[in-house]
Amino acid sequence: MNQKKIAAEKAVEYIQDGMKVGLGTGSTAYYAIVRIGERVKQEGLRIQAVATSKASEKLALEHGITLTPFERLDRLDLTIDGADELDSQLRLIKGGGGALLREKITAFHSDLLLIVADEGKLVPSLGAFPLPVEIIPFASEWTLSALEKLGCRAELRKDESGHLFISDNGNYIADCKFGIIEFPEQLQKQLKGIPGVVEQGLFIEMADKAFIGRDDGSVDVLDNNIK
Ligand code: A5P
Repeated sequence: MNQKKIAAEKAVEYIQDGMKVGLGTGSTAYYAIVRIGERVKQEGLRIQAVATSKASEKLALEHGITLTPFERLDRLDLTIDGADELDSQLRLIKGGGGALLREKITAFHSDLLLIVADEGKLVPSLGAFPLPVEIIPFASEWTLSALEKLGCRAELRKDESGHLFISDNGNYIADCKFGIIEFPEQLQKQLKGIPGVVEQGLFIEMADKAFIGRDDGSVDVLDNNIK
């Protein structure tokens, strides 16, 4: 069973005609974009869409989804995006694909953030997945050492050819191995306090619902009761 696909397709059912929609990034958001494209073609669904990465922009256009410039929209009705990890309070780690900054900006301006994921992403505590942190290239070694003072091992991400990974915004991504993150809210504040950190991959009190694909073909829908 393709857990990512069934989760993504369930979330796409929430999109109604006329909505303003944020398109996430990654291998699960991929299925959401493909399904939205199908609905545009088959049902004549009309939406105004923005994308959270250059990759998702390209994918959307390939699937017949017209993109609207950000400045033409004040808010979005909903965004559908993936996650690298999520816990039962719908706190997330994102940025495995390096798109966390655009994803967070888009999520912040969305009335609803719908997370789509396979069941392996649901964890009791965040942190087994190294936390992605987007940093400015200037004096990046200093920024890395400030990150490590928070108790992690921080490494600059490389691409498949071994070169430093550059985000869509021209920045580096530091993958920070903290191990279990006991107090994500506190860590978020500490990360924000480091000059050179542009954004970090903890998304707290942002997700409204999570769609978790299961091997038996079912999709669990988790609600954020805290937000
Ligand atoms: C992109 O930067 C990420 O935040 C993705 O949303 C996240 O990595 C999930 O990706 P997958 O759906 O490919 O696991």
